[in-house]
Amino acid sequence: LSNFATDADVARWRAETPGAERHAHLNNAGAGLMTQTVLDVMKAHLDAEALDGGYEAAQDNASRIAAAYDSVARLCGAQTRNVAFVENATAGVALILSTFAWKAGDRIVTTRNDYASNQIMMLSLAQRYGVEILRARDLEEGGADPDDFARLLASDRVKLALVTWVPTNSGLIQPVAELGALCGAAGIPFAIDACQAIGQLPVDVAALRCDYLTASARKFLRGPRGIGFLYASDRMLNAGYHPLFADMRGADWTHHDAFELRPDARRFENWEFAYALVLGMGAAADYAMSAGQERTSARARSLAADLRTGLAAIPGVRVLDRGRELAAIVSFEPGHADPGDVVKRLRERGINASWTPRTSATIDLDDKDVAAVVRLSPHYYNTEAEIGRAVEQIDALLGGSRAPKARS
Ligand SMILES: Cc1ncc(COP(=O)(O)O)c(C=O)c1O
Repeated sequence: LSNFATDADVARWRAETPGAERHAHLNNAGAGLMTQTVLDVMKAHLDAEALDGGYEAAQDNASRIAAAYDSVARLCGAQTRNVAFVENATAGVALILSTFAWKAGDRIVTTRNDYASNQIMMLSLAQRYGVEILRARDLEEGGADPDDFARLLASDRVKLALVTWVPTNSGLIQPVAELGALCGAAGIPFAIDACQAIGQLPVDVAALRCDYLTASARKFLRGPRGIGFLYASDRMLNAGYHPLFADMRGADWTHHDAFELRPDARRFENWEFAYALVLGMGAAADYAMSAGQERTSARARSLAADLRTGLAAIPGVRVLDRGRELAAIVSFEPGHADPGDVVKRLRERGINASWTPRTSATIDLDDKDVAAVVRLSPHYYNTEAEIGRAVEQIDALLGGSRAPKARS
């Protein structure tokens, strides 16, 4: 595949996306638009469950279900044995945290930009067990400072480093490969929240040197809501790490008072599954790989860069993305307008956006001295025209005084 998307590629991707022409969907960080294939495999499985029975449908589709694991494994450079399917990224992080026997004074190294739910779970561990959370300082240009991260890793009793690769609330891309190398050198298990990264950036668990990685299907991967996956390295599996509450899928109840864990990552799974969603996630992974991750990533990020340029020319708009490299998430303060109201009015004008309140990113928004931000997140199937339209509409909502217009 060429590194560049042609107009014909974009036209095909849009034709394969039933929602593409209905709105300018700039909320891929919320949930990306699913392709027709993803929708079809899920509908077919639900039909089979209704017509043949839920358990029978799963048996009949066993080879397709197995193939979904292979697809997700290939998508992130893993072996199938290292992949488990979970409800969502947050459930994955909770499972990861539960693999450690936390004691007072144990430490977790993380960043100032980790996802709110992860921060809450770590704070809960702090409250219940006296675990300490060490957050690396940020660089001047934004993003975790690797030197400070390394300094924290060298503290006593660090059990885990947990880093959100691309936060929900801005275009920052954390230097996860560099941080992973530091964890490797320090011998500290490294977990990545790749919820906004999967489908947006090429992911290779070996290059990242991570022990755990978790993500949801619905965002830039363009899979369904309600499912995600968790990668667990052989290092962790072979050392016997397992979720505190493995169920009868993750382990066998072999003796009255004993259980045996599954050898592979499926020790993280629950017995019950929405198999339609499993198939949908597998199809989304296949689609992402066939579209070509390098070029879809480059295109999404380039559309986001155009959006930042357009927004920055609107008086009163403050574009808030910081970092050495920026992702396809654009965050901004819309002058004195209320972010929730801007999103509502954009929706009325056929543009899907979202907004992030302070409590979703307390540290980052306090640092930026803003109570809430509007978030626009294009993907590779969006068009330059949609980006232009979004900028025009936001300009109009805020009074229509963009620099070029003022001159005419
Ligand atoms: C960076 C990041 N991590 C984790 C999550 C949580 O994903 P889920 O709601 O699927 O658990 C999100 C959701 O927005 C996110 O942006």
